[in-house]
Amino acid sequence: MSDVAVIGLGRVGLPLALAFADAGLSVIGVDNDAARIGALRDGRMPFEEPGAQEVLDRVRERLTLAERATDASPARHIVLTLGTPAMSHIEIDLRQIRAVLDDLLPHLREGHALHLRSTIAPNTTDYVAGYIEKHRGFEIGTEVFVAHVPERIASAKFFEEISTLPCIVGGVGERSGEVAAELFEVLGAPIVQTTPVQAELAKIWTNILRYANFALPNLLMMDCEQYDANVFEVVDLINKDYPRGGMKLPGFTAGTCLRKDFAFSEERSNAPGMLLAVSRVNESVPLFLVQGLKRRLDGSLKDKKIAVLGLAFKSDTDDERDSLSYKLIRLLERELADVAIHDPHVPTPTQSLGDAVLDADAVVVATNHQEFGTRDTLRAIVEGAKRDALVVDPWNCWGAAQVFAHADEVLALAAR
Ligand SMILES: NC(=O)c1ccc[n+]([C@@H]2O[C@H](COP(=O)([O-])OP(=O)(O)OC[C@H]3O[C@@H](n4cnc5c(N)ncnc54)[C@H](O)[C@@H]3O)[C@@H](O)[C@H]2O)c1
Repeated sequence: MSDVAVIGLGRVGLPLALAFADAGLSVIGVDNDAARIGALRDGRMPFEEPGAQEVLDRVRERLTLAERATDASPARHIVLTLGTPAMSHIEIDLRQIRAVLDDLLPHLREGHALHLRSTIAPNTTDYVAGYIEKHRGFEIGTEVFVAHVPERIASAKFFEEISTLPCIVGGVGERSGEVAAELFEVLGAPIVQTTPVQAELAKIWTNILRYANFALPNLLMMDCEQYDANVFEVVDLINKDYPRGGMKLPGFTAGTCLRKDFAFSEERSNAPGMLLAVSRVNESVPLFLVQGLKRRLDGSLKDKKIAVLGLAFKSDTDDERDSLSYKLIRLLERELADVAIHDPHVPTPTQSLGDAVLDADAVVVATNHQEFGTRDTLRAIVEGAKRDALVVDPWNCWGAAQVFAHADEVLALAAR
């Protein structure tokens, strides 16, 4: 009998399954995506996660792969790492969780523990516990155990943080928290026990804090354009030698988590609209950049070649889900611009850097991948793009401190 099953081998579930196996547990990994299971059976990581391939190579013997949720039932501990998107109705989409629960229900037996690792709206853990109680009659917390153990690790940092980041556990009833701790303590991080709803709130508000923190410099960037001020200088004035500073820098803020987790608060908000406004600010950055470009390129982007650097939603990852780069590209296309794309990380095929920037009228840094912030990339732009090409760099990745500037200007400023 296996120690633990992980259902949903995505960006969260697969590294977690590997970490359990690396800690010596026998693991059943379940995913209904046949291609994903196929890649794993061949010993290949289906996406980039630093360190994961090495762990996979090491633990293959202890990892059983399966495609049906019911295949998880031999394990005592079952961790759900399924997707929980937000519906357009500003409401959590629980369909993946419901489908797996319905599959598992007939197979649940006394002693089984269900750990919800997905990000969920407040009261979802109690709902899951109630659902099991209603349909199978188990007393939750003594016969079957249900807990929320939220994932707070950022992608690309899993193996760096899994053994240190406090592991929040919110168990239902008498012993669910204790049972969840028995499983998760093998990973080495301190366990922090709380109630299910506090665990849910702590996770979604961790992300809301980040999302709002990034909205402020993004709004400031747009205000600065309005007042002909330099956002990087203003941020520096705010933060420098000021003990209560901490303004972040502007950039594209999205991705599968930040873009939707705020909706799990917003669905029953005490201040309806406040977090929607935060979202609107972050979501309007691509349009702000397109309009800024248009103003600087004689009022039209028609037939202008615009090179977009970066498709991933954040730096140094191959994850393109919910990336604002795609929104930027769609907006540029609606201006009848000719868009060229370069991203060395993502699985989507893109052009080489040289081809993308060749004869470009403008180059937009959409993702702050490390390799973009180098002098080599800047030189490739200066040498390849048109002589008076514009560079749009909301990240300040070359330290030139200009959101919009001509390429040779960026080169001169970056040289300082
Ligand atoms: N990606 C992150 O960095 C991150 C960080 C913290 C928390 N989270 C949260 O963790 C959860 C998972 O996120 P993710 O990015 O790993 O999602 P994901 O979409 O990459 O992974 C979900 C996996 O579940 C599988 N799946 C769906 N239905 C299934 C079923 N019926 N049976 C078996 N497998 C099924 C899918 O094929 C997919 O591989 C979400 O709630 C997310 O909000 C994500």
